[in-house]
Parts: sequence; structure tokens; C-alpha cells
Amino acid sequence: MLQGGVPSESGRHSVVEPCSLVIFGSSGDLTRRKLMPAVYNLLLDGMLPPRFAVVGTGRKNLRHEEFRTSMREGVEKYSRRPLDPSTWAAFEPRLFYHRGSITEAATYEGLKSLLEQVERDQHLPGHRIFYLAVPPDAFAPISQGLQRAGLAYPADATKPFCRIIVEKPIGHDLESARQINTALAQVFDESQIFRIDHYLGKETVQNLMVLRFANSMFEPIWNNKYIDHVQITVSEAEGVGTRAAYYDKIGALRDMVQNHILQLLCLVAMEPPHSLNPDVVRDGRMNVLRCLRPILGKDVGRMTVRAQYGSGMCGGIDIPDYRHEKGVPPDSTTETYVALKLFVENWRWAGVPFYLRTGKAMPKRASEVAVQFKDIPQILFNADPTVPQAPNVLALRIQPKEGFSLRVISKVPGTKVQTRPVEMNFNYNDAFIGGTPEAYERLLLDVMVGDASLFMRRDAVEASWAWITLILDGWKEEKLSRLPDYPAGTWGPADADRLIQADGRAWRTM
Ligand code: BG6
Repeated sequence: MLQGGVPSESGRHSVVEPCSLVIFGSSGDLTRRKLMPAVYNLLLDGMLPPRFAVVGTGRKNLRHEEFRTSMREGVEKYSRRPLDPSTWAAFEPRLFYHRGSITEAATYEGLKSLLEQVERDQHLPGHRIFYLAVPPDAFAPISQGLQRAGLAYPADATKPFCRIIVEKPIGHDLESARQINTALAQVFDESQIFRIDHYLGKETVQNLMVLRFANSMFEPIWNNKYIDHVQITVSEAEGVGTRAAYYDKIGALRDMVQNHILQLLCLVAMEPPHSLNPDVVRDGRMNVLRCLRPILGKDVGRMTVRAQYGSGMCGGIDIPDYRHEKGVPPDSTTETYVALKLFVENWRWAGVPFYLRTGKAMPKRASEVAVQFKDIPQILFNADPTVPQAPNVLALRIQPKEGFSLRVISKVPGTKVQTRPVEMNFNYNDAFIGGTPEAYERLLLDVMVGDASLFMRRDAVEASWAWITLILDGWKEEKLSRLPDYPAGTWGPADADRLIQADGRAWRTM
């Protein structure tokens, strides 16, 4: 394994320069569950630069040792590979903690002194990555604090690099997203800003481009001549749990569709890029967003369905009615489920509906992109209109059981001419040995090498908010005092079935 090197998109190796990772919000869940386990797994794979430091910051008063212990606990609990005591013991001295409030200048001055000290002691060249694992209203004060202390500056080839990573939600509508982006742009150049959409870091999501553009058989039929429709489902088997305070202000459309699901859609619908240069790939995804037909006026009611879960069972666990979840107001009209029908208005996709659905408290955790091909002509094996042939479907399983299946029609062995659909299946776990990296591993590594392909550019964030905000405005007009519900542990409301059945189609059974 190459130490401190990462195979780049083109197969060449980019060097990961020694650097420090500064995490704001380091006592939060994200750091313990995702970031630290990701750093640890990169270390195990020999992907971290040979010299590297992590500095956690937060309001808690912690000594470096206490911070290290809490990070160790996070790795023990959430890492995909078990913690190896001797590897951890050698790594742990590279973790540091700095206490401070994000609104006080002294925090940044103190952070600067600590970083300079660490960089001297560890022989680091001064490259820094600031990870903002904090709510978006903290992005502006942190960026300004960093700037005033001289910790953040525009990209300059003569200085060490300085990059910032921000987490969603980037706003709650177009206007607020613009404000956040503007605040970031006052301190950083776009090339220094890495907006995470962790779906883009998932192995199976990256495979969408490989499947489409590294095989000769899909691209020629990837268009409205052969494809009947596309379904994208992201279902979750849990209720809102302890996140009600966040979720009730957000809802499924903003939480899942604005970012993750629209990005999946972009990968399915984009034109082949001419190179793997980050901006060429991001232009490709952006062009899909530009082609989304706006959902306006009466179409809001016709093409969107929203609902809330009622009480029920998910995976053997009783889930209360959403409005009775702790922290949710009893008159909440926040949707926990959304289904949409949309069109990508370009020559490739004209007339092909894309059906999207996502929800909490559904029967199981399953994310899938299913491409359904057109029916064959009514002749030969498809001659009887009362027993039509099932269409071909390419189903890409994002998670779990990562892989894909292709439904084809086969002859049933025997003396009669009888046909039946069969599934050809590919499973990652069967085909490749070695575990699949978590999204955050890939994404952190990409920030270290400065590759922004899998991150959201400002124009894409704003384009998707512009499209989503029209739906939100339409919903506001509807002035519903109560949303339809679906019992927890079911596949959503009857209205969602009607949405797709009205077109003579059905949601896939998953
Ligand atoms: C997050 C949402 O972005 O994605 C959560 O805020 C959701 O509500 C999560 O549960 C789903 O991610 P994954 O990787 O578990 O599918």
C-alpha cells in the first residue's frame, strides 16, 4: 500500500501532503461516529500522510488526554474495523484539543498558537483543513474568526493550503443558502470550499458513473428511446429518534431530496463528461439540475405527495405517531415522507418520468436507483395482452446489499415455450474482498488531495435549492393544517401509489 498516496481518478497517484485537520464541533456525534473512525481507517490503510495532526475544538473543557479518550471510544464503537491498541497508541499523541467559543476572538488566537506549536513539534508544513461539524449558523462566525486570526486566507500558491469543509444543511431555502455561500465566499475562494454530500462518497454512488461510462452496453440505450422511467427510493426504517429538534424544522424534502436524492438523479441523468477533472464532472451534474422542469402551480399538488408517519412497528420496534415524538409539536405539518414525479427537460430525457420517494419509519432501510426499460412489442413472447412480459429493469442497490441486478426474461426449461423474469445479480461483497470504505474516508482523503469532484459546488447547491424552493412555496400555498399519514412500517401513503399508478406504473417492491 502506498504510504500517504492516493490513486487518483486517472490512475496516477496524488500525494497527500502532511497537514492538520481542525474540527469545530468535535464533541458532537458526527466526529465520534464518522470523522474519527474515517481518519482511523485511513490510517490503517496507509492513506494518511506520514505527518498528520487532528485538533478538536469545542466549548467543553477537555484536556488533550480526555479528548483522545473520547475519540478512542468513538473509534471503538463506530469504526468498520476494530481498534488495534498498538496502532492507536502510536497515533493518539497526534490528537489535540482546544477549548473556546466560536464567537470569541481569543478562541482563534489560542487555536493559532496551538496549531503553530503542533506544526513545529510534528514538522508539519502548515497545511490546514477546517472541518465545520456545526450547524450552518456557525459557518459565518467561524470563517470570520479564522480570517481575523490569519488562519484562513484566499488560495495562494506561495502559502500552505487552507481548506474548509462544511456539512449540510446549507440553508433551508434558496435565500438562506445564498447567504451562507456568500459568507463563506467572503473568506475562502470556491476552490477551498468543500461542501459535503456524503451520498457522493458512497462506493455504490461512485459506481454509477463507472457503470454508465466504463461499459459499452448501457450508454447507447440510456435515453428516452429505450428507458420508460426511473425510480429512486431512499427508505429508512427508523423514526426521527432524537433528532426531532433539527428534523421538524427541515422535513424529508429538504433533508434528503434537495441534496442526496437530486445528486443521485444527476449521476443517472448526466451526459458523459469528457474528463474526470473535478469541474468537468461537476459541470455534468450541474447541467442536469439546470434541466429540471420547475414544479409550479397546480403541478405541486399533482406531482408531489407529502405525509407524516403515524404509529406503527418498524423492525419489531414500536414507533409513536410523528406528532407524538419527543420534541415534535403536536400540530406539526413537517413531512417525514415525500414522493415526487419530475422531468429532466433535455433531448436525452424528454418524456421520461423520474419518480423519487423517501421517508422515515418505512419497512426497511433500502436505497435504490431502478431504471425500467420500455416494453417490448406485442409479438412473439409478448403477444398476449392479458399476460404482458415484465420489462427489463436495471436496479442499482446503493445500500444495503450493495450491488446491482438486471431483470431479463428467460425461457423456463421444458418442452413448452414459457417465459419468466429472472434476476442477474452482482454483489460487491461477493465480487470484491476487503471491506468497502465509508463515505467519509473517501471524502476526507479527497479534501487532503484537493479533489472536489465529489463535493457540491456553490452553483449546484443554489440550483437545487431554487428548484426545491418552488415546491416549498407551493406547499405553503396549500395551507394544510394536517398532513396525510402512513402507519410506521409501511411504504408510504396511498396518495404516493396514486401518483405513480395514474401513469400506469407502480413503485417497485423492495
Ligand atoms: C442525512 C439525513 O443527511 O442522511 C438523515 O440528515 C438521514 O436524516 C441520513 O438519516 C441518511 O444517510 P445514510 O447514509 O444512512 O443513508
